[in-house]
Amino acid sequence: MDKLIINGGNNLSGEVFVSGSKNAVLPIMTATLIVPGTYKINHVPLLRDTKTMITLLEIIGAKVVYSDNTLQIDTTKCSNPHAPYNLVKTMRASFYVLGPLLARFHHSNVSLPGGCAWGPRPVDFHIKALREMKVNINLSKGVIIADGQPCGAKIGFKKKSVGATGNVLMAASKAKGETIITNASKEPEIVSLGHFLIKLGAKIEGLGTERIVINPIINENNNVEFDVIPDRIEAGTFMIAVAAIGGDINLRDVDPSHLESVISHLKKLKICIDIGDNNIFISSTGNYKSINLETHEYPGFPTDLQAQWMALMIKAKGSSSIKENIYHDRFTHISELSRMGADVKLNDNIAYVRGVDDLYGAPVMCTDIRASAGLVIAALCAKSQTEISRIYHIDRGYENIENKFSIIGASIKRIIG
Ligand code: UD1
Repeated sequence: MDKLIINGGNNLSGEVFVSGSKNAVLPIMTATLIVPGTYKINHVPLLRDTKTMITLLEIIGAKVVYSDNTLQIDTTKCSNPHAPYNLVKTMRASFYVLGPLLARFHHSNVSLPGGCAWGPRPVDFHIKALREMKVNINLSKGVIIADGQPCGAKIGFKKKSVGATGNVLMAASKAKGETIITNASKEPEIVSLGHFLIKLGAKIEGLGTERIVINPIINENNNVEFDVIPDRIEAGTFMIAVAAIGGDINLRDVDPSHLESVISHLKKLKICIDIGDNNIFISSTGNYKSINLETHEYPGFPTDLQAQWMALMIKAKGSSSIKENIYHDRFTHISELSRMGADVKLNDNIAYVRGVDDLYGAPVMCTDIRASAGLVIAALCAKSQTEISRIYHIDRGYENIENKFSIIGASIKRIIG
């Protein structure tokens, strides 16, 4: 298994080009199944998760060609509406095929995703909503067997869910009648999925708000080109890294409007940030004071940057708390960060961080995509060498992470194992 070897202490300086968003492209890839046709999707990051989704689309019967960050997908001859366990268990986002397969075939067998490193991650909202859309759903041997054409319905989520909002949007795009979603997710990735469905021919109002109204596709558009939005989590990871380590970088190909909460929190630390149309310049001395933080649904501070923020607070002057409101158990990085000298105590869903003067390199292990990014930031701040194993987690969500950090001056290399 590959490892990263990091020698901390180098300031970061230069330019980083942000990749396309993983969480935006994955549902869009599944949405190409809704209307048989040919699709060109640009700015697609080469990640373990996008490769897994390509495999899943191929199993369903699509022809997929990936080259130079562009995906060509032909879904004309798809005929196998199934998502097997070996793929769904490695990537929960595979569950996004459920809505599209129902929309097109009125039938699908999709394995139930299991838990993950930070606890159970249920799909009950997806199932309840599809049942309200008159889809017949049964569970047999760990597989969800869904039958029937989705019918328009009023779907009110009791809690916001990105995945369930996405699945209902896609099912509704070929439903019988109008669907209204209330308490919908407002994440940019959901807005982007909505824009893709509009290109297919759906009529959708209210994207980016809590109430979305979907009228299904009547005149299908089966030849669509689409650009994936920039990855706000990758961008936020680099911003937090520079804030923690010190230096100045210019982030290119980024949408600053997706990062308002991250920018406002970093400004509270007196980190210098200049915002352009599609770039962010960030400069830090590496000296800053602790502040408290809570994760929230968009437009709040993302749970996907919580581990990276913890690495930042570990190096801050003073003590702070980090409250995780989305996934209460998402703290597997604490024990690894402690091995590097961090002082973090956990009580329920609140981590209490006392800043330390120095972190020290140690062998540490990745446990999930974003926890891994927190370890990389801590290692870049640490005094000696850190060896990070199980980096297949990082490769799920970060394109060329070692190259991007090397270019801006970090000492980081991959050992292929
Ligand atoms: C997506 C993102 C993930 C991010 C998360 C929260 C993708 C591929 N993944 O995950 O990176 O961390 O949003 O921003 O885009 N819930 C239920 N029942 C359900 C569905 C969700 O109880 O059926 C709960 C979850 O346990 C969690 C909360 O709702 O507490 C939000 O989860 P959700 O927004 O659905 O996350 P994902 O779509 O899985």
